[in-house]
Amino acid sequence: MADVGRQPAASLPDSLGRRYLVEFDTNELDAHTADVLVIGSGIAGITAAIAASTESTVALVTKGRIRETNTWYAQGGIAGAVGEADSVELHLADTLVVGAGINDPEVVRAVVGEAAEALKDLQSLGVHFDSAADGRVALTREGGHSLPRVLHSGDATGAAVQDALTAFVRNARGVELFEERFLVDLLTAGDRCVGAVMHNTQTRRLEVFWADTVILATGGCGQAYRVTTNPLIATGDGVAAAWRAGAEVADLEFVQFHPTALDSDASPKFLITEALRGEGALLLDCNEERFMLGVHPLAELAPRDVVSREIEKVMARCDRPNVWLDARHLGADYLKTRFPTIWETCGEAGYDLSTDLIPVAPAAHYMIGGVRVDIDGRTSLSGLYASGEVTASGLHGANRLASNSLLEGLVFSRRIMRALEDEPSGVRPARIVSGPADRVASLTTARARDTLQDTMSQFVSMTRSEGSLEEAAAILHTLTPLLDVALRHPADLELQNLITVATLLTHAAWLRTETRGTHSRLDYPQRDDAEWAGHVVWRRGAEPRFESAAPEPQTEARP
Ligand code: FAD
Ligand code: SIN
Repeated sequence: MADVGRQPAASLPDSLGRRYLVEFDTNELDAHTADVLVIGSGIAGITAAIAASTESTVALVTKGRIRETNTWYAQGGIAGAVGEADSVELHLADTLVVGAGINDPEVVRAVVGEAAEALKDLQSLGVHFDSAADGRVALTREGGHSLPRVLHSGDATGAAVQDALTAFVRNARGVELFEERFLVDLLTAGDRCVGAVMHNTQTRRLEVFWADTVILATGGCGQAYRVTTNPLIATGDGVAAAWRAGAEVADLEFVQFHPTALDSDASPKFLITEALRGEGALLLDCNEERFMLGVHPLAELAPRDVVSREIEKVMARCDRPNVWLDARHLGADYLKTRFPTIWETCGEAGYDLSTDLIPVAPAAHYMIGGVRVDIDGRTSLSGLYASGEVTASGLHGANRLASNSLLEGLVFSRRIMRALEDEPSGVRPARIVSGPADRVASLTTARARDTLQDTMSQFVSMTRSEGSLEEAAAILHTLTPLLDVALRHPADLELQNLITVATLLTHAAWLRTETRGTHSRLDYPQRDDAEWAGHVVWRRGAEPRFESAAPEPQTEARP
C-alpha cells in the first residue's frame, strides 16, 4: 500500500494549520439563526434548501448574486438512465469504467439508481428538458457514455436549471435568502459544526449564522488555474474552510480537464460542449485528420481524460496551441437550433460553425476531490454536510463521467434531507472567540493570484512529474506567508483559500506516484493497483493517510 507519509516536496507551511482566517468574537457580531444553513446557490445548494424548508427554517447564503454559480454555465446536460435502451446497470458500468478503479461502487449505485426520481423532482421545480419528435425526453450522448443518456435544455442546460431553481427558491416559504455573504469560516464547538462566520460584502461587516446543521455547497476550484472553464466564483472556499475546521478532504490530486474549450483570449474559457461531439462533431489535427480513431474504441467520445491527453500530445506534435473541432457537416440550420449559445459565441469570436473549423484546447474544468462525505453527504464533522462539486463523494473515482456532476448535487442534496431527520437540534455554544490574527496585511495580493494560476497551469496541469510538482510547491511556498495575515476583502480571502487548496492539491499529486484517470504522471506512466487503488485522505493537524478503495462489483458488460 502506498506510503503517503513521505517528506513533502517543499516543506508544508505551518500556515496550513491556521484555524480561523479572521479575528472575531461572535458576541460582537450581528447574528442570524436557522435550523439549517445552506452555503452556496448552485444546483446542490438550492435543491437542499428547498427540500429542507418543508420541515425546517433555512438560511441560504451565497457570496455573490444567486445566479453566480458553476451550475449556470453547464451546457451538455444531466445524465440519467431514463431511455428505453438504458438501465441503471449500464449507467453504473460506464461510471465505473471512466472512474478508473477507485469509485465507491455503493455510492455510484445510489446516485445512478436515484437519478430518474431526482430528475422528476427537478422537473416539478420548473426545469424544462428538450423533447424528441415522439414527445419523449430527448437524450444526447457525451464522452464515456455507451449510449445517449443526457437530458438537456439546448446547449444551456445549466442556465435553465439555475433560473428555474432560483425562481422557485425565491418564493419558497421557510427559506431566507442572503446574497453577498462570503463564507469566511465554519464555526465548531468540539467536533460539531454549529454555524459559520460570513463577511457581508455590502456592509463590509462580519456576521454570525448559527445553525443546527450546515450544508456546504460551495462548488469547485477551477480558478486555481489560469486556463479554466470555471467562472470567478470557483475559488475552493468551501474546501479550504472545511479544512480549517478540521473536516477530512480527499482525492484533491484529481482535477478534470475538459478537452474542448474555445481557444481564445477570453478568461475563463468558453466551453464547447461534449454534446456537440455526441451529435457528430469530430476532432482534427493540424493536417485536418481525425486523431482519436485508433486511440480509443469510442474515438472522439472516449472518456474525457483520454481525449484531453491525446489533444495535449497532438498540440505538441503540431506545435500549435489548439486542435480543431469540425461540426461543418451538421449544417447551419441544425447547429443554430440545437446549439444556439455555441453558434452565437463562436460567431462573435469570428467562427461560423457551419463553414469553419473551431480551435479548441483543454482547460481545467472540474474538481473531483474535495470535502470527504459518506453516502448521505455527512462529512467527518458532525453537523456538517456537503453536496455537489465541493465534495469527494466517491462517485467519480479518478475521472468523472460527463454530466454526472449536476446529478451528484441533485441526488446528494436529497439524501442529506433524509439523513437530517436524525440530527439533534439546539446544540449551540454561547460564544466563540477566534484567536488573534497574527498581523494586519501590508502585502499586496493582486499579483499573487496571477502567480498561483500561472503556476498551477504550468506545473500541475493534466500531465505532471516529480520535477514539475516540486517546482510548483516551491512557488506556492513563497505565497503561503499570505495565509498568516489578517485580510478582510473577499478577493483576498479567496486568494488565501486558493493558496490552501492549491498547496494541498500539489502535495497530493506529488504523493501519487502512478497514472490514473485525470492524474497523469510522466515519471510514473502506469496505473499501479498494487500501491494506489485508493484515496489520499487528509485533515488539518494530521498526516495524510491512504485508504483502499472498495472492490468493484461485477457489472453488466457494455453493449
Ligand atoms: P456551484 O454551481 O458552483 O455553486 C456554488 C455556489 O457556492 C455558488 O453560489 C457560489 O457563489 C457559492 N460560494 C462559493 N464560495 C462561497 C463562499 N465563500 N461564500 C458563500 N458562497 C460561496 N456538469 C454536468 O453535470 N453537466 C454539464 O453539462 C456541465 N457543464 C459544465 C459546463 C461548464 C462551463 C462548467 C464550468 C461546468 C460544467 N459542469 C457540468 C459541472 C457542473 O456545472 C458543476 O460541477 C455543478 O454545477 C456544481 O454545482 P454546485 O451546486 O456544487 O456548485
Ligand atoms: C459539457 O457539456 O461538455 C460539459 C459536461 C460536463 O462537464 O459534465
